[in-house]
Amino acid sequence: MSSTLFRTKKVEQSILDTEEPEHALKKSLSALDLTVFGVGVIIGTGIFVLTGTVAKDNAGPATALAFVAAGVACALAALCYAEFASTVPVAGSAYTFSYASLGELPAWIIGWDLVLEFALGTAVVAVGWSGYIQSLLENAGWTMPAALGSREGADIFGFDILAAALVLVLTAILVIGMKLSARITSVVVAIKVTVVLVVIVAGAFLIEGKNYDPFIPKEKPVEAGASLDSPLIQLMFGWAPSNFGVMGIFTAASVVFFAFIGFDVVATAAEETKNPQRDMPRGILGSLVICTTLYVLVSIVVTGMQHYSQLSVDAPLADAFKATGHPWFAGFISFGAAVGLTTVCMILLLGQTRVFFAMSRDGLLPRFFSHVHPRFKTPHRPTILLGVIIAVLAGFTPLTELAALVNIGTLFAFVVVAIGVIILRKSRPDLPRSFRTPWVPVIPILSVCASLWLMINLPAETWVRFAIWMAAGFLVYFLYGRNHSLLARREAGEEQPSAGGGTA
Ligand code: ALA
Repeated sequence: MSSTLFRTKKVEQSILDTEEPEHALKKSLSALDLTVFGVGVIIGTGIFVLTGTVAKDNAGPATALAFVAAGVACALAALCYAEFASTVPVAGSAYTFSYASLGELPAWIIGWDLVLEFALGTAVVAVGWSGYIQSLLENAGWTMPAALGSREGADIFGFDILAAALVLVLTAILVIGMKLSARITSVVVAIKVTVVLVVIVAGAFLIEGKNYDPFIPKEKPVEAGASLDSPLIQLMFGWAPSNFGVMGIFTAASVVFFAFIGFDVVATAAEETKNPQRDMPRGILGSLVICTTLYVLVSIVVTGMQHYSQLSVDAPLADAFKATGHPWFAGFISFGAAVGLTTVCMILLLGQTRVFFAMSRDGLLPRFFSHVHPRFKTPHRPTILLGVIIAVLAGFTPLTELAALVNIGTLFAFVVVAIGVIILRKSRPDLPRSFRTPWVPVIPILSVCASLWLMINLPAETWVRFAIWMAAGFLVYFLYGRNHSLLARREAGEEQPSAGGGTA
């Protein structure tokens, strides 16, 4: 039995499957498209919303160091992702990589886990977007009825209609085609990066040195005592629960990690890239470097403009300009943030449908979902199904708690990918790798340690939710995926292993 759980799908087979005409995606993206794509999804709720929360609650001006810590963990993971993406240029990201290296069950677990990252991530960002739109509407004198605009902290039960509508519109755009969405993405990314640069340049003139004192605020005990809200590491070691101090920087890093999510999504578009061998690593690493630099600069500027204890948690970048007497800048930033969050949402949604597509092509989910639309060449069935589910989720989802759940799922995927790099080097040293992770196994091992470190700095309750989600995943695999796997059927001789033989 264990041999079937760990059966692997040959890399050559993965590549061959993508060439079956009925299951093939259009190859249209370049390295520049990928970088724009990456920046489009990476810069979002993390920098626009979470910066204020962590500066206020966990790290003060040292939030910039939290971004550095999370950025280092992501750079290590990116080096592993880039090798995998350039070796296995097939839709499905970490899922596909682990199918080729670790085996079917780990691949299933990863695919299941990526649902957490992409689907919940989409919902979280849609709610953030709705918040900014509502704040713009309020500027214009319009207020959404509370029941249709459930905001963070609102005590009334409501359905966030704007968030749900955004997801549905983006679903329609994705069904129509990749090229159209890439074009829209480029324009939106330009607006978003301009807004971030305006924050950095205009904000730099408004910095007051006294706001940086102290740069790392002294550790402060949490009055409520230990609870499941505390980071797991504090419970593991029986430390008195506290905020700020050096450990506060790591708590902040595990939260702002959300701001980096997305560079791995670039890898999910491998199959739609013209020259994945060369362009994939460039796209992933390029977008990560650009974003890390911008985040560090933004957090230094914002915590310099306003004392960290005064920062707002809903729209910290815009509100810092309001607080320093520049409301015009604040309006411009709110507008840009709302526009920018649109692409984040769209690309997370795209990543999700591609993982789902890859899993159904392998028979782990019903193969009904792996057909591409004859005219648009997009996997329209999973796109529509997931779009509707996520729209409902976005309507009912509170923002902050789910961000932590998204982080733990993504970090877990990073751990598996890093281990996969080491295993695939040993099991398939012959495969051509246009990008090779340097110093294997040192970098992958460091990547595993860095991801685990951020994971244990997340609240214990996030771990409980994650465990429940994964247990449900095991159940679905043993009840469906294991028996329907295409690989299993091929091994049993029920299915031809090469092109043209797609069953629907
Ligand atoms: N990195 C993305 C964001 O911050 C998911 O919104």
